[in-house]
Amino acid sequence: MKNLNLFDEHVSPTPEERVKELKALIHRYDEAYYVYDDPIVTDADYDQVMRELQALERQYPDLLTIDSPTQRVGGTPLSAFSSVSHRVPMLSLSNAFEYADVVSFNRRVVEGLQEEGYLPLHEEVEYDCSLKFDGLAVNLRYENGVLVQASTRGDGQVGEDVTANIRTIRSIPLRLKATRFPRVLEVRGEVLMSHAEFQKLNAKQLAMGQKPFANPRNAAAGSLRQLDSKITAKRSLSFYTYGWGEIQGFDDPLPLTQSAMIEWFHEMGLPVAQERKTGKGVDTLTAFFEHIERIRDELPFDIDGVVYKVNKIEYQQRLGFISKSPRFAIAHKFPAQEVSTTLLDIDIQVGRTGALTPVARLEPVNVGGVTVTNATLHNEDEIRRKDIRIGDKVVVRRAGDVIPEVVRPLTVWRETLETRPFVMVSVCPECQSAIERLPGEAVWRCTGGLFCPAQRKQSIIHAVSRKALDIDGLGEKVVIQMVDKGLIKNLADIFYLSKLDLARLDHFGQKSIDNLMNAIEKSKHVKLENLIFALGIRHVGESTARDLARTFGSLEKLMAATIEDLLKVNDIGQVVATSIVHFFAEAHNQAVIQQLIKAGLNPQENQVTADSGSLKLEQLSFVITGTLPSYSRDEAADLIREHGGQVMSAVSSKTDYLLAGEKAGSKLEKAEKLGVKIISEADLLSMIQPNAE
Ligand code: IVH
Repeated sequence: MKNLNLFDEHVSPTPEERVKELKALIHRYDEAYYVYDDPIVTDADYDQVMRELQALERQYPDLLTIDSPTQRVGGTPLSAFSSVSHRVPMLSLSNAFEYADVVSFNRRVVEGLQEEGYLPLHEEVEYDCSLKFDGLAVNLRYENGVLVQASTRGDGQVGEDVTANIRTIRSIPLRLKATRFPRVLEVRGEVLMSHAEFQKLNAKQLAMGQKPFANPRNAAAGSLRQLDSKITAKRSLSFYTYGWGEIQGFDDPLPLTQSAMIEWFHEMGLPVAQERKTGKGVDTLTAFFEHIERIRDELPFDIDGVVYKVNKIEYQQRLGFISKSPRFAIAHKFPAQEVSTTLLDIDIQVGRTGALTPVARLEPVNVGGVTVTNATLHNEDEIRRKDIRIGDKVVVRRAGDVIPEVVRPLTVWRETLETRPFVMVSVCPECQSAIERLPGEAVWRCTGGLFCPAQRKQSIIHAVSRKALDIDGLGEKVVIQMVDKGLIKNLADIFYLSKLDLARLDHFGQKSIDNLMNAIEKSKHVKLENLIFALGIRHVGESTARDLARTFGSLEKLMAATIEDLLKVNDIGQVVATSIVHFFAEAHNQAVIQQLIKAGLNPQENQVTADSGSLKLEQLSFVITGTLPSYSRDEAADLIREHGGQVMSAVSSKTDYLLAGEKAGSKLEKAEKLGVKIISEADLLSMIQPNAE
């Protein structure tokens, strides 16, 4: 165990000193974990320190204070929440939905400031851009740096006292980290539940036979409004600061801008979201909006837009409020991602591995700018659990590039609609083979294997896709036609197609025939890892395929590998090894591979071994961001892996290098913050040069 003493180890501290030490330690651990996303101890170490503190506080009750981390675990249940009058009202924001709304907001701001003689003509206003968190607003009151009260927004004037519940949120400091703080400091922000926590909670709700929550916002609200704070303590809520209320009794000058205020709160240990930006004029605002819209699905929690605030606090005060909203700020909302429509029917789709997925056929509907006609229903149990019937009016959700899904039925419509229950098929709808559902699995599968035309089509579609053989012009529809017309039965057949065969395809003129022939020819130079991935071996994804290629170097060697050989490969366990051996033992698969080799697909890769000299980047982990001068990000990643390095998608304290090109964004900021080394493409190339150290 690590040294848990902050002070001199050889002098035994008094209980009072030890309590102080332990509190400081836990505070540091919490901050590292919750505020900086960079844990510094194991859970076991953490628990041990917490237990020691609890024991001391039990033994010496006088040493127990309200800012002790032991007070986070929840206390005696309340019979009701008491009311709290907000000293500074908690207002709401007006909304912008379109570009034009943002332009007129900026115009109102500029004109308002010019009228008062605050802004010289032709000067643009600086804004602070932040996320519009989709959770619940709370006010945290710190007196002399100690959290004394937390309240919900309520009607903006009077909210509810949720102090006991807020204390359980580990990212919220019970004591601010500063040597000087205002006598009264109220910070405001949003309580949220992360997607991961939401999934976990709903799984638990189901397991206990309770109703799942409809979305993370409801789950966060339900968790915060618990009279029994022990329940809240189990729910891992998050908090992000975006503003303030009353500030009293501070001799130092306060920061002059919104962004500097938020930075100050962050320095005092309050969590703030990284996604923030300041800049002048409407262009900054729209660029921020578009950027956040692009990364929205990568965020661990829900947002429903972004917020723009005039940055200078003096200007904010000048602009003031109209009724209940500030004139200096606006929320720019994303288009709705959830809409309702009619569930016309439920079809069964057969996937590459035979999985039977129920797919909703919907009355076409626009969800966030995209017309949706199909949505996944996941599996039979989900349909039953959500009580979805054919003919129902249903809520459909789309999140970025993810397949749209049916969220729930709107049962109030049932009385006026004709609905019928969904009945699962009893045989494969494509090939009439038997279907099976293995114990512990949620999905039914067709047992027809490659006899099933649907499985055959899907496995070929997978094989020619971008990350596999990458055959341009051979999309889903063309593959389906080829199989239906009997031109191909398996992947290898593609390489024996003649121009005459292609001429039988609908809408295929001379030009498309030539292009496709060329693309097929080109794909014969595929890299080994892509070819292995293309084979569609169960449990072999892109990264396992890469490891296999690097370890075995050729298809022949891979086919000859035994379970023991495979188990030596990075991250390959019994299940994957068995799946690979079974795949190559199958006569049909051997025949396809022989045909592929005969057609000229027989890539070799330099086997990477400890003495092959291409391990310059071994043990090093890289993240790539921005546009590089000559390599694409995928190519640079390949290069790093070829030299033994690892490429990760997110920057953390374990990242060794950030390879940054132009227009690098939040990853660059994070790397700078964490002190991760930032290198250019040229730096990378010099690291892997033959004579480089
Ligand atoms: S500022 C006077 N900033 O949106 C300005 N609010 O409609 C008050 N919200 O009740 C709010 N993210 O719950 C602000 N970055 C952000 C926000 C934000 C979410 C919520 C907050 C508030 C509501 C206002």
